[in-house]
Amino acid sequence: MSYTRIIGSGSAVPDNVVTNAMMEAIVETSDEWIQSRTGIVERRISTDQNTSDLAYLAAKRAMEAAAVDAKSIDLLIVATVTPDMPFPGVSQLLQRKLNMHPITAFDVNAACSGFIYAINVADAMIRSGSYRRALVIGAETLTKITDFTDRNTCVLFGDAAGAVVIEPSDTPGIERVITRSKGDHEGLLTLEGYPLKQGFKTPQKPWPFLQMQGSEVFKFATRAMPEIINDLLSQSSYTMDDIALVVAHQANRRIIESSGKKLRIPEDKLFMNIEHYGNTSAASVPLAIDEAIRSNRLKKGDLFLTVAFGAGLTWGGALIRL
Ligand code: ACO
Repeated sequence: MSYTRIIGSGSAVPDNVVTNAMMEAIVETSDEWIQSRTGIVERRISTDQNTSDLAYLAAKRAMEAAAVDAKSIDLLIVATVTPDMPFPGVSQLLQRKLNMHPITAFDVNAACSGFIYAINVADAMIRSGSYRRALVIGAETLTKITDFTDRNTCVLFGDAAGAVVIEPSDTPGIERVITRSKGDHEGLLTLEGYPLKQGFKTPQKPWPFLQMQGSEVFKFATRAMPEIINDLLSQSSYTMDDIALVVAHQANRRIIESSGKKLRIPEDKLFMNIEHYGNTSAASVPLAIDEAIRSNRLKKGDLFLTVAFGAGLTWGGALIRL
């Protein structure tokens, strides 16, 4: 065994649909502004499901698609920056919901690139020979860290989860993964957590919200995505002609289109579902992969490219044959 491959995928979103017209009632914005600047038409906002609940549904659907039982999984990785609680991790909460054996289970924090990081780790751990089957999930309830008085950010995000099952393979499946990171010294994308305590006084607990310098993140993203796509192709023997679909992190339609234009990628090779879900952070890539598979945009044997960027700053991508 020298490779790994994806044998099934699944996803889940909350039922609650929030349209741009509904956002107009909350902050000073317009459907026209949101659609033209981002491509978002609606998003799902959870009212009663936490990250582990969405992860559970996505995991069940992925295992059903792969026709495997939870008891056969020996590695569980959840990429998230919006866990139900700091600890236990979403992976352990999910392990309990799925009634799994004691196995290796942990969370990965790399924001919107989290799923790519998790795939990189799972691929390497399986290829080491120590693990037989991994459940890899990206799950977020980003709207719980979203400030719904800040129009610069609140129109952008939604909640979701996506999952894949990965196992050893004699033929190439996950062919190459790249993950990169650099310290965000300028605070382009941050979520302040708990300040240090002053002496033994119990501090007031402000609810922490995501802060973002949108246009700077936009510039970073339009550099990072083409860089990763170019590097994945140049480090392999493939060209864009061999790629069936580019499944990019759905943060902004203009970011995906700009990368497509720079690399002369035909429009029909750029997968988009941002209009329905907005930016769902680490869930965005596995949700898009699952939708691409279920809608037959990706078929068995197809080679596809996935790419993401996010807070950290982090970025990365993978070249995967189904
Ligand atoms: N409705 C109406 N007007 C708005 C809204 C809104 N919802 N939000 C901002 N504006 C206004 C601004 O106030 C500004 O007005 P001003 O010129 O009077 O000051 C104007 O629109 C333009 O603002 P910009 O920030 O320059 O708009 P831009 O075209 O850059 O689009 C956006 C903003 C959509 C946020 C874009 O910069 C973007 O997508 N950035 C990347 C975000 C991203 O991908 N984050 C990913 C990571 S998330 C994670 O990792 C957890």
